[in-house]
Amino acid sequence: MKIASNKLSALYEFYKTELSGMYDAGELYTIFEIVCEKYLKFSKTDVRQQFEANVNQSDLILIYDAAKALKTGLPVQYVLKEAFFYDSFFEVTPDVLIPRPETEELVDLIIKTVSGASQDPLFASPGALLDIGTGSGCIPVTLKKHLPAILAFGVDISEAALEVATKNARRHRADVHFQKVDILAPDAASLISNLNSQFSLLISNPPYIAHSEAAQMEQHVLAHEPHLALFVEYDDPAIFYKRIIDLCESCLAPGGYLFFELNPLFANDIKNYADRINLFNFAELIIDMSGKNRFLKARKK
Ligand SMILES: C[S@@+](CC[C@H](N)C(=O)[O-])C[C@H]1O[C@@H](n2cnc3c(N)ncnc32)[C@H](O)[C@@H]1O
Repeated sequence: MKIASNKLSALYEFYKTELSGMYDAGELYTIFEIVCEKYLKFSKTDVRQQFEANVNQSDLILIYDAAKALKTGLPVQYVLKEAFFYDSFFEVTPDVLIPRPETEELVDLIIKTVSGASQDPLFASPGALLDIGTGSGCIPVTLKKHLPAILAFGVDISEAALEVATKNARRHRADVHFQKVDILAPDAASLISNLNSQFSLLISNPPYIAHSEAAQMEQHVLAHEPHLALFVEYDDPAIFYKRIIDLCESCLAPGGYLFFELNPLFANDIKNYADRINLFNFAELIIDMSGKNRFLKARKK
């Protein structure tokens, strides 16, 4: 299909035709807005107010090419190579998970917890945080920006993800150290201790989807996001959580916090596991914006 003119409205008509059947009307308009924000540096209001304005030829080609890439089913964040997280943009490639709104909630919870504990010597000394399964690095980079005194580390099994995370730290001028670690490997505890003897914050949003849940997942997630970030390849879908809880014995400082993003399907099992090992003063489940048990916050004795 050809674009009728150089007007923004004509481009929007083109998007509607090219992507018909893939998104509902609201999603399609949001995607169009995101593309215009990126290539035209428009705000959402600009998009609405300048609907009849002409777009120059080079921008028109970029927006046209984005539609063609979107037509393959690629999520808009991978097409534009960036995703908005918390308060800024992060580079994303198909090697990393697109950061989710629930993870923004997790980061907010952590910032509020640490800000509320600013008199605590654990965070004044300065403390250190470790994000396990860091992906794009969105968690430690955002935390380092908001809690500048803290030493920040991120680990992941994927070298490709670590490259993206390193670029994001540079992009945000956040001093975060990244390292390759397989958290399930026998040497994980010693590799982590080599980064910093004990952490005041351990954070993880690990892979938490069992293959049996794949049938209920959206096709564009299954087709384009890294399965290494989504799926647990073991019989026990809570294996990452249990492993990280076990690591708290040696790697989390007394009084330090553990934060997880959880699969609500087995949130209670993980809380029970944390309660049973008798390492924490408390372990509480916290609900997300949609009312699901999504986070665990635990404090070591
Ligand atoms: C759900 S993604 C989370 C990414 C990012 N933290 C976020 O919240 O957007 C899980 C991450 O765990 C990593 N991962 C998978 N298996 C791992 C392992 N055995 N050891 C360390 N990281 C692993 C994946 O590469 C992926 O980046």
